[in-house]
Amino acid sequence: MKNSFYITTPIYYVNDKPHIGHAYTTILADVLARFNRNRGIETFFLTGLDEHGQKVQDAARNRKVDPQIHCDDMAPRFIELWKKLHISNNDFIRTTEERHKKIVQLILNQVMEKGDIYESEYEGLYSVSEERFITEKEAESGQFRDIKNLKEKNYFFKMSKYQDRLIEHILENPNFIQPQHRKNEILGFLKKPLNDLCISRPKSRLNWGIELPFDKEYVTYVWFDALINYVTAAGYNQPDEKFNLLWPASYHLIGKDILTTHAVYWPTILLSAGIELPLSIFAHGWWLMGESKMSKSLGNVVNPIDLIDDYGVDPVRYYLMREMVLGHDSSFTMESFIQRYNSDLANDFGNLLSRVTTLIKKNYNGLVPTPNGLNDSDIEIAKRGEELLIKIDSMISEMHLNDAIEEIMQFIRSVNKYMEENAPWKLVKENKDAAGNILYTAAEALRLGATLLSPIMPNRTSILLNALNVEGYDFSWGALKPGVLLKSHQPLFPRIK
Ligand code: MSP
Repeated sequence: MKNSFYITTPIYYVNDKPHIGHAYTTILADVLARFNRNRGIETFFLTGLDEHGQKVQDAARNRKVDPQIHCDDMAPRFIELWKKLHISNNDFIRTTEERHKKIVQLILNQVMEKGDIYESEYEGLYSVSEERFITEKEAESGQFRDIKNLKEKNYFFKMSKYQDRLIEHILENPNFIQPQHRKNEILGFLKKPLNDLCISRPKSRLNWGIELPFDKEYVTYVWFDALINYVTAAGYNQPDEKFNLLWPASYHLIGKDILTTHAVYWPTILLSAGIELPLSIFAHGWWLMGESKMSKSLGNVVNPIDLIDDYGVDPVRYYLMREMVLGHDSSFTMESFIQRYNSDLANDFGNLLSRVTTLIKKNYNGLVPTPNGLNDSDIEIAKRGEELLIKIDSMISEMHLNDAIEEIMQFIRSVNKYMEENAPWKLVKENKDAAGNILYTAAEALRLGATLLSPIMPNRTSILLNALNVEGYDFSWGALKPGVLLKSHQPLFPRIK
């Protein structure tokens, strides 16, 4: 058993403007990282940028700047967004960093020594305008200009050699590719013979990449370079113990669009280099706008910054995590965002806090009442509270994050119902102890709920925990100290009109 939690996001193309899709994967990784960290597990969370390749070279050329300067100009867009979204990554890797180039070259050498790289001529139709080889069919489509027959020497990785071992690994490790339907997709793909992978580009065609250590006329194909970031940042080939502690990665989180590169290319590269395979590759679905795909050309890309500016970071994080069933596509609409916010956050959660704190301030001088002689309905809530963590732990380990959130909200709803049924605002006049029991129980439920929701809404839950005068994360029921003084707080989730 590995006693650390190492989670990664894809490294994003530096040329893209970050949108809600990138934000989603990164927030998801952040939530899982925070959850593990709060539970006391040694956690390492990595994200970063994919900076080599044709598109970056072209974009830099258009701007008449050096590609490195172009990357340096673009990188802050991601770094600043992650800061705004309260992303708690432990490292931020850029593939143009020296530490990464060294590891890519080292692994290329290892794979070469293993006899898994060979040279071969490739002859085919090449579109000069697109700067890539195209198929006969594409050539006939009329969409490509400047087509010529090109003969080119390249280096190939013997991916086919590892096909059987990969299939075996997938079958023996049921969690290696998740969710199940993605695993089946890859197993289906692996029924056909696997081709070898072209891992080089001649510098005459593409300059902006990591030089092959065994041929300086070539650079490394961008995916062979990018995937390796996951071991570079974990400290592969470094003298300290970091890599042993972190590797194999617990999760590579990806979108379904990059499943083959992660579930086929990456494990075969690792098998060849003699490095253990990651424990799990988890592919999530797409955020759609209403019914259609989010895309620049349709002009329907949601800019996360606008949403945050209007409604705050935590509600956006909450919505994205609550709404998407992991592994499936989900549709983003402003209506559902506002509805979720008002019903779950403003009504269920925010109201409970303001009710409880108002009553404690008014009737108990702001001091959390001491429970004394609990009745059945108080005990019922305590029992649910005690059971909650076990349920949440298991839902999160199965990546049913939306269910875990719903479970916490149902608990909060049951506390609201308990408040309604027992009406401590009336009871306090006749039996101050009984009303105190209810308010202690409700305040403790809020504390536990906020502790469990804190990976999703780190800011707003810290306002709540601070209002209850609580420090740190305690997951056991009853951790709220009777007699502590409540602090004043701003409204947690004001209703959206
Ligand atoms: N650079 C590669 C990844 C290399 S990893 C070694 C890449 N970059 S990307 O900028 O195109 O980002 C792709 C990732 O962004 C997807 O896998 C997914 O995580 C996320 N998303 C982009 N658009 C998305 C949606 N509309 N919805 C959800 N996530 C999507 O591919």
